[in-house]
Amino acid sequence: CGIVGYIGDKNAVPILMDGLKKLEYRGYDSAGVAIYDDNKILVRKYKGRLSILEEHLNEEKLSGNLAIGHTRWATHGEPSDENSHPHTNEKGDIAVVHNGIIENYQKIRKFLIDKGYVFKSEVDTEVLAHFVDYYYEGDLAEAVRKVLREIKGSYAFAVISSREPDKMVCVRKENPLVVGIGEGENYIASDIPAILKHTRNIYLMDENEVAVITKDDIKFFAENGEPVTKEVFNVTWDVASAEKGGYEHFMIKEIHEQPKAVKDTMLSRIDADSDTIKLDDIKITKEDLEKFRKIYIVACGTAYHAGLVGKYMIENLAKIPVEVDIASEFRYRNALVDENTLVIIISQSGETLDTLAALKEAKAKGARILSVVNVVGSSIARESHDVLYTWAGPEISVASTKAYTTQLIALYEIALYMADLRGTLSKEEIKTIKDEMMILPEKIEKTLENKEAIQRFAAKYSGVKDVFFLGRGLDSPVAMEGSLKLKELSYIHSDAYAAGELKHGPIALIEKGTIVIAIMAQQGLYEKMLNNVKEVKSRGAYVFAIAKEGHKEVEEISDQVLFIPEVSDLLAPVVAIIPLQLLAYYMAVEKGCDVDKPRNLAKSVTVE
Ligand code: G6P
Repeated sequence: CGIVGYIGDKNAVPILMDGLKKLEYRGYDSAGVAIYDDNKILVRKYKGRLSILEEHLNEEKLSGNLAIGHTRWATHGEPSDENSHPHTNEKGDIAVVHNGIIENYQKIRKFLIDKGYVFKSEVDTEVLAHFVDYYYEGDLAEAVRKVLREIKGSYAFAVISSREPDKMVCVRKENPLVVGIGEGENYIASDIPAILKHTRNIYLMDENEVAVITKDDIKFFAENGEPVTKEVFNVTWDVASAEKGGYEHFMIKEIHEQPKAVKDTMLSRIDADSDTIKLDDIKITKEDLEKFRKIYIVACGTAYHAGLVGKYMIENLAKIPVEVDIASEFRYRNALVDENTLVIIISQSGETLDTLAALKEAKAKGARILSVVNVVGSSIARESHDVLYTWAGPEISVASTKAYTTQLIALYEIALYMADLRGTLSKEEIKTIKDEMMILPEKIEKTLENKEAIQRFAAKYSGVKDVFFLGRGLDSPVAMEGSLKLKELSYIHSDAYAAGELKHGPIALIEKGTIVIAIMAQQGLYEKMLNNVKEVKSRGAYVFAIAKEGHKEVEEISDQVLFIPEVSDLLAPVVAIIPLQLLAYYMAVEKGCDVDKPRNLAKSVTVE
């Protein structure tokens, strides 16, 4: 979900709508606003896309100088007008927008019902509005503080009340919320792009801090009511980088931004003139590395697929055993983690709840936490001992592309850094890899030029029901990521298999016309893959192969080949994923799917 708020002298409505549009990727099944005007709070909220809310607001011409807004991704209670935010108390003089989950809301709801409160919706958020009302004794911030003592869960929420119409009160725990500093006006938002048009000066809120925001002042208080002094964070990136810039969809724009994103993520770290890897952001020493008996890589979704590649790299280059785990599994399986474990957390948003919870679990057991994160100042970044940022810039499309390739780069950097400290690679070997990394942006660029072939394939085959992705070695996680991209964007069923597993089951599914995408970018396993292609071909599959330039044999045995530039086995995933991203994109466009906002998915999953 996404939150925006404004207080000042201007009409808050257009400012909120503009901000909400930037946040729509965080959730888009309903949207609403609460506007303070003429001594009362007006709430307008509707199921469906933001445009529905916008139409209503345009018709009614509402205005006010204080307002909070919300775009929702349903968790408790199905998408409906009633369940949308903001939620109010019975009198309608307190309004709340909320992102996250109040875990003990049933208990609080029962308590409040016993006290005579009447509920209108099924949503956990509604308890917040009534609970603030219950505790209110003339000080809104104090009432919010009392509520905080009782609620459990993860949340970011903002409250306004016509009893104190000169302020917004907000708080966050495990969900993002920033405060934007203006002149004679102030803002709040779940994410910086929502308010970047108005200010570059931001406060990043800490967990359970209460912010009291008036038009001329912003004050922060700790849980116990003590005032807190905070530093202003200055946003240096451009608002244009968060907008579509001429492309039809954010996704295709972000796919094309990969050469730059990859280059940026190497900037000042991978330098041809130096013989080491400079990771100034990381404080892990040689002694620390000697201590780590094992590394866990923990993440969700696409970031997890990057982790699978990371395992190969760290094990091969730095010779430390690595286990990769899905965050929602890791957090509940009592993994063998202690002070001698390094846990690498990967997350684009830095806010994925399962990933954050896994981090906390590992940290509590004494592990050292190194995170690979794209969003600066995000919860995961702040909870970690060391952070290596990916410099992909804001990623708006729900399906991750440039964040993934930069995560791979960050993991190469970590592997090389460790190999260097441990002496498992010679300076020459490191230099060879570094030199090749520096030309990866060009190789991606070249691969992107091949998009017509993929467009043609999509035009012809977008009607298929099933697609199988096969790969071996480092091509196997690439196949998994390609398959995830295809299913999330085009809703075509797809599966990925390590090609060697084919004979143990999946081959039973191959019949005449089944589409198989064979990734053949690993030189060392190329012959084996040729055999796998033959196996599926002889059962009638239509094979689309992704192979490296110069590998002609594959043309003879497969139906179609897309050649990618020559690249070493180790670095091949960065290039081999590009055609698969394009494939998923064009298949979805061909089918008329909502590319940037696939059904049922959200960019940042801040609920369990
Ligand atoms: C969601 C997104 C995925 C993403 C995953 C992890 O499911 O739709 O694209 O890979 O979350 O997100 P994170 O921000 O932690 O990388």
